[in-house]
Amino acid sequence: MKLLVTGGAGYIGSVVAAQLLEAGHRVVVLDDLSTGHADAVPEGAELVRGTLRDKALEVLEGAGFDAVLHFAAKSLVGESVERPGLYWDRNLGESLALLDAMRETGVDRIVFSSTAATYGEPERTPILETDPTRPTNPYGATKLAIDATLTEFARLYGIGGVSLRYFNVAGAYGRFGERHTVETHLIPNVLAVAAGTRESVNVFGEDYPTPDGTCVRDYIHVVDLGRAHLLALEACTPGTHRIYNLGNGNGFSVREVIEVCREVTGHPIPANVGPRRPGDPAVLVASSEKIQSELGWKPEHDLRQMVSDAWAFLQSRA
Ligand code: UFG
Repeated sequence: MKLLVTGGAGYIGSVVAAQLLEAGHRVVVLDDLSTGHADAVPEGAELVRGTLRDKALEVLEGAGFDAVLHFAAKSLVGESVERPGLYWDRNLGESLALLDAMRETGVDRIVFSSTAATYGEPERTPILETDPTRPTNPYGATKLAIDATLTEFARLYGIGGVSLRYFNVAGAYGRFGERHTVETHLIPNVLAVAAGTRESVNVFGEDYPTPDGTCVRDYIHVVDLGRAHLLALEACTPGTHRIYNLGNGNGFSVREVIEVCREVTGHPIPANVGPRRPGDPAVLVASSEKIQSELGWKPEHDLRQMVSDAWAFLQSRA
């Protein structure tokens, strides 16, 4: 297939672009490089630099694309609370421009990066796709709005869409890994201590109603996540919008993650306990039963593998 990958210069987009190329697809990456890196775009993919508003129509027009994988987004929860307008504009606004361009050019399949943040504070775990969606921050709200837009575009214009609701993505795929300028995620921050670029890790709160008092999350390897995109692509059915959770179904606390990082790196990794980070739910664990039964996807990598792949990636860049 000929595929447009928006955000293909970012962490997850670059991994999936690499996997798509290996599967024999042709890939064009559209990325404004606001947070991505041109050298993260895999060899064999063409990079078009620009926003979706400026370039999506131009790129799709008459070029014979079969489908779009849409990763481009602003994705920092804290920043979204500080600058909600930016998130609505860049996430929903740019996605609408992309969908309009798809409609105009007759490209009718899309796989979209949604998020567990659409659920907000869950009433129960593991979270099912049918559970209430009450995002607690603008980031989650914008992604939920795009999911709703996809449902409408499927109904009104026959688009075939799949939204994948990622839980906590981690790990690396060879030379493709996390390279955020502002790093907020737990695993890269913990590994930065082992690499000597940070002094200690901050544990955001240990008074949560969890076994060790720290937040519990469902970590999924970026390679497993990528494989789900290839399956989702095959499952896009015109006129239908499907939503799937993507996680491993196991919860690990912040303290457990730090412990695995200590074991993998052999570094003591000093940790300090600080206050809670606003907006963090205590426990987020996915039920991925739906994608397992409908698309035959299965996670193959555990937390230790995610940490050791992320560690190898970090060391390769040192
Ligand atoms: N944490 C720390 N110290 C740190 C960084 C994180 O204690 O230095 C804690 C957080 O408080 C949280 C856990 O580690 O409890 C995981 O935090 P991350 O920032 O790695 O990930 P989040 O769970 O906050 O967010 C991730 C994605 C979001 C997405 C969300 C959905 O980054 O984009 O999952 O669940 F919205």
